[in-house]
Amino acid sequence: MSKAPVRVAVTGAAGQIGYSLLFRIASGEMLGKDQPVILQLLDLPQAQKAVQGVIMELEDCAFPLLAGVVATDDPNVAFKDADYCLLVGARPRGPGMERADLLTANGAIFTVQGKAIAENANENVKVLVVGNPCNTNAYIARAAAIKVGRTNPNNYHGMLRLDHNRALSQLSAKTGRPVSSFKQMVVWGNHSPTMYADYRFATSNGDNVKALVNDAVWNNDVFLPTVGKRGAAIIDARGLSSAASAANAAIDHMHDWALGSDDWVTMGVPAPAGNSYGIPEGVVFGFPCECKGGSFKVIEGLEIDAYSKEKIQKTLDELEGERAAVADMLK
Ligand code: NAD
Ligand code: LMR
Repeated sequence: MSKAPVRVAVTGAAGQIGYSLLFRIASGEMLGKDQPVILQLLDLPQAQKAVQGVIMELEDCAFPLLAGVVATDDPNVAFKDADYCLLVGARPRGPGMERADLLTANGAIFTVQGKAIAENANENVKVLVVGNPCNTNAYIARAAAIKVGRTNPNNYHGMLRLDHNRALSQLSAKTGRPVSSFKQMVVWGNHSPTMYADYRFATSNGDNVKALVNDAVWNNDVFLPTVGKRGAAIIDARGLSSAASAANAAIDHMHDWALGSDDWVTMGVPAPAGNSYGIPEGVVFGFPCECKGGSFKVIEGLEIDAYSKEKIQKTLDELEGERAAVADMLK
């Protein structure tokens, strides 16, 4: 018997990430090749004509799993009964900007959308914020949702998966091993140049990756800056921020959360109370997570050496600064 369709809300549907994302969701790459989906597309009033063009293309793909499409500029309509929300719609940064420079421009979007999700979506909704600065935007959406109640506050995530995938790809290039050989990668903290990509626990076909790389200078001077500043390098090269790889990471995050993974995955999740890493409760932080049966769990108790402690503190300090900068928005 075929499954009942689930509702997937995507904001910023007319944007460049939306154009890479929607077709893959509709083809079953996110939630499985047996899971019909209804897409609920949100964008600004002035983008509705472009959304209609994207819908024409979705229709022309004749996806067997696409059970319906809704287009709207009203968050209450877009998030109605949604099982999954991908919050992409926001302004991207341009050359010379940091993601945190978008806080004022984009933060307001997420108070409105967090409230609308909590009032309208399925109580078990899973929310992924892609729009930058994504950790703090997820924190804002979560805070607005908590005021309403109803939905699960742990289910408001920020996207660190692009950083995780970038780190795997750099390790593959350095070691000559295929990406698929790597397990147990972690990226701690903020989706910003302060993120700490950490392969101390990683293995490749069972070999310890830190021992395999055995190059502290490369780690500090090449690997971390390459992963941390990859977004800016893409903006410099393309004149536009990453889109296909961002959409791919969003698919990976939601896929693993919904369907499970046999590997650790990096997710930007609200720090659990009393976590072993000392991250204040509720800060949306990149953690190593296990995903099983539609839920996720932060992997606790990993050893943090002095170098890692310093890196984790730096990215936490930045997130705390962003949190302070948006405090007024959350009153
Ligand atoms: P884009 O400018 O191509 O598209 C953004 C879309 O969002 C536009 O269609 C715009 O009309 C819409 N939009 C703006 N405000 C909206 C609102 N309030 N409600 C609904 N829709 C709204 O941008 P893009 O390249 O698709 O990037 C979108 C966001 O994703 C940016 O903030 C970018 O920095 C971020 N991003 C994050 C990651 C990550 O790893 N977390 C990676 C890449 C890009
Ligand atoms: C990325 O990492 O590619 C995105 O966050 C876009 C950006 O502004 O860097």
